[in-house]
Amino acid sequence: MKKTTIFVQEKKLKNEKISMLTAYDYSTAKLMDSCGIDILLVGDSLGMVVLGYDSTLPVTMADMIHHAKAVARGCETALVVADMPFMSYQVSVTEAVANAGKLMKETGVNAVKLEGGRDVCPQIEAISKAFVPVMGHLGLTPQSVNALGGYRVQGKDRGRARQLIEDAQAVEQAGAFAVVLECVPAGLAGLITKLLRIPTIGIGAGRDCDGQVLVYQDMLALYPGNKPKFVKQYADAGSVIKNAFRSYIEETESGLFPADEHTFKIDDDILEELRRQYETET
Ligand code: KIV
Repeated sequence: MKKTTIFVQEKKLKNEKISMLTAYDYSTAKLMDSCGIDILLVGDSLGMVVLGYDSTLPVTMADMIHHAKAVARGCETALVVADMPFMSYQVSVTEAVANAGKLMKETGVNAVKLEGGRDVCPQIEAISKAFVPVMGHLGLTPQSVNALGGYRVQGKDRGRARQLIEDAQAVEQAGAFAVVLECVPAGLAGLITKLLRIPTIGIGAGRDCDGQVLVYQDMLALYPGNKPKFVKQYADAGSVIKNAFRSYIEETESGLFPADEHTFKIDDDILEELRRQYETET
């Protein structure tokens, strides 16, 4: 059965944890869906882990639509959420509603996510009222990396912690069905989780959130570069894949691949006849 925003909210009420992973393509989405994941996020982290940019800022609506369509096609049960890319919702409430609607209408995803607190509450309210469920995103909001001065933990001092609590309450009030808390001290994320009725999904925000999300390239060691402190690597798939690529290159160069079992046959008589005809002609 397809999971819904109500399903994930009921998990919070039942004290059951919510699982969420990022996905950007059909085959990975299908694998995750078949394992029973609750939510698949077509994150704008796409820009970094799939498209090779050094931030999420260059990601476009067209990029998101292309990948969200593929993920939605691969999902039978998971709730699919797509990120609204940088500058697709900040300029005006009208543009935000139009872009959220476009993402949902053209891709088949079930909800959108956008970053920010009180500053984007008019957008969250208007998009939700247009029947597009919205997931909020607070704490380290990668689209604001230039304003935040880098990728770092948020809400460590009293003032910033208060701001985060009030932003979370405002996002809930505006109509978000859930909120991601990224790189927030565990104690503060736990307090926000207690204060909100909607579920919190943590990434680098400790175990007291209602759910967890990871970028799948991080958890499988598929993305080069430093591993953030909050990432647990569940498999070294990068090494497995590299070993397979090396074996393929070696076997291709040595002629070991393809073997008989990978090869199509033609009747010997036909081949002999063709040889006699064409090899004598040349
Ligand atoms: O884009 C993304 O992958 C995200 C997650 C880190 C929550 O927003």
